[in-house]
Amino acid sequence: MGTSPSAPDPWQRFLGPLLASDGGADAEWLSELSLGGLALASRWRQLPPLRLALAAAAKALQRHDRRLEQSLFGCQFSNPVGLAAGFDKNGVAAAIWHCFGFGFAELGTVTSLGQAGNPRPRLFRLAAEQAALNRMGFNNRGAAALRQLLEAQQLPAPGQRPAVLGVNLGKSRLTPLDRAADDYAASLELLAPLADYVVINVSSPNTPGLRELQDETLLRQLVERLRRQPACPPLLVKIAPDLEDAAIDAVARLAYDEGLAAVIATNTSLDRFGLGARLLSQTGRSLAEEAGGLSGAPLRGRALAVLRRLRASAGPDLPLIGVGGIDSAEAAWERIAAGACLVQVYTGWIYKGPELVPQILEGLLAQLDGHGLPSIAAAVGCGLPWREA
Ligand SMILES: Cc1cc2nc3c(=O)[nH]c(=O)nc-3n(C[C@H](O)[C@H](O)[C@H](O)COP(=O)(O)O)c2cc1C
Repeated sequence: MGTSPSAPDPWQRFLGPLLASDGGADAEWLSELSLGGLALASRWRQLPPLRLALAAAAKALQRHDRRLEQSLFGCQFSNPVGLAAGFDKNGVAAAIWHCFGFGFAELGTVTSLGQAGNPRPRLFRLAAEQAALNRMGFNNRGAAALRQLLEAQQLPAPGQRPAVLGVNLGKSRLTPLDRAADDYAASLELLAPLADYVVINVSSPNTPGLRELQDETLLRQLVERLRRQPACPPLLVKIAPDLEDAAIDAVARLAYDEGLAAVIATNTSLDRFGLGARLLSQTGRSLAEEAGGLSGAPLRGRALAVLRRLRASAGPDLPLIGVGGIDSAEAAWERIAAGACLVQVYTGWIYKGPELVPQILEGLLAQLDGHGLPSIAAAVGCGLPWREA
């Protein structure tokens, strides 16, 4: 059920004004506040008041339809819309993401050593552009803490969860680049039994040197090392939007050779997409001068182009996950029609609120009807344009 423009949903009513400008409530503080509430709800979800509240959220936000379901790399997805990595870095709300309508959620990035990340402020709203700049630097409690938290939440076993749960792994800042594989492997060993899939994140712009691991030789060594983990979950790689075409082709080649489960495109960008002169009111400096990765609406075109390139060089068999600037059903359709089996949202979900997920799912179903397609799986890579209802 959509919300009529005259009756804004509670998210828009209460948070809309806070999210409408760059200043005011600090972006990271707002995120932490919401996550704190979600953590309590996830941990104590059996208590009657919380059970009722979560059931009400699920009723409002979930859309069940067989046409949205897919089976990919051994995981059953109830729908193609997921929460992107970086919001629930420590897995505090792992047990309840399905209540928000998501078919999957990616926890992390988690590193083998817990770390504080970069100094604050490190997350900035660009409200007029529906975008964000972040240089969080993998702030997280570490792989062992994530494992403990997931165990404390008593999640169903992988394969039996209402939403698929991926775990996104990064390199600890203190670990030198030539020891990166050991660092990822240590996290994987702890988390493999709990993850439906694992993402090798080599694309965050906020850990010095990390993106060098996208080099074909280094990435191949890393994947081969991680694959040696007994009972290794499906392995995915997440890439940056700033790769040259030749490097994108190399990832596609590697994915085929190494049997990667999927590739996720894309992380945040170092490009400023023509917004270099835009001043950040919090620091008084321009986007060109500020470090960090750009996400949200300005990233949409580039993330789509990278996905298209991947699809062209990898062919139709490699599952792709599209992320970057998806903030509407139309943007999600565009990514699926270009070859994404699944999509993820982050910045758009913050600005639009939880209603975005059912809006996307309803919009996708309407496109299937309009184009006479039987399922989302049939729409992947179909190249058909968005049709206005
Ligand atoms: C505040 C913030 C933190 C993020 N942290 C991570 C992270 O830890 N790991 C990761 O792989 N991506 C991270 N991302 C990138 C998102 O997962 C996503 O790839 C990117 O933001 C593009 O999607 P969007 O335009 O929908 O936000 C982060 C993004 C934001 C805005």
